[in-house]
Amino acid sequence: MPSKLYQQVEEFVEDSFTKAGKAHQIKHFKRTAYWVKQLRPDADDALLISAVAHDIERAYRQKDLLEKKHTAGFTHKEFFGPHQDRGAEIIEDFLKKQGAAQELVDRVKMLVSKHEEGGNEDQNLVKDADSVSFFENNVEHFLTDKIDEVGKEKVKMKLDWMFNRISSEKAKQITRPWYEQAIKRLGY
Ligand SMILES: [Fe+2]
Repeated sequence: MPSKLYQQVEEFVEDSFTKAGKAHQIKHFKRTAYWVKQLRPDADDALLISAVAHDIERAYRQKDLLEKKHTAGFTHKEFFGPHQDRGAEIIEDFLKKQGAAQELVDRVKMLVSKHEEGGNEDQNLVKDADSVSFFENNVEHFLTDKIDEVGKEKVKMKLDWMFNRISSEKAKQITRPWYEQAIKRLGY
């Protein structure tokens, strides 16, 4: 059973993305939490909360980061650094308002602030689950709309990056067929 706090965070994520006109992205977040649990059945609340909220910055994206995404590219630290940091701050604010324990708030912050690049074992777990959920849910969008927007090469870069960053063998195994199929469909 998910905790009450987890449910509050999930609702916050749903509301935020719905208000931002990005409700179609919600599935990816819920499935990231699902994959954290698959990869580590005894995952604690902080891991599940971080998984569902990892991309919360996207619901509150500022113009400067929107521009950076185009100039630096989505696989560049100049872009994903602030993406991680701002997301960590937004979820910290929300958790504090809910009266969450400081220890949990700190742990969620630590996890969200490295969800793209990973680091320690727990940060890697959220990153890996994000990648699995990405290949499960987002590839179609990348192979259609995104190609028109940014071109084939950048889509290939994103797919490679999302796959190659995976740390655990299990997550790689789950993801590999989706990754290979996507690359084939891309024409490589
Ligand atoms: Fe994500």
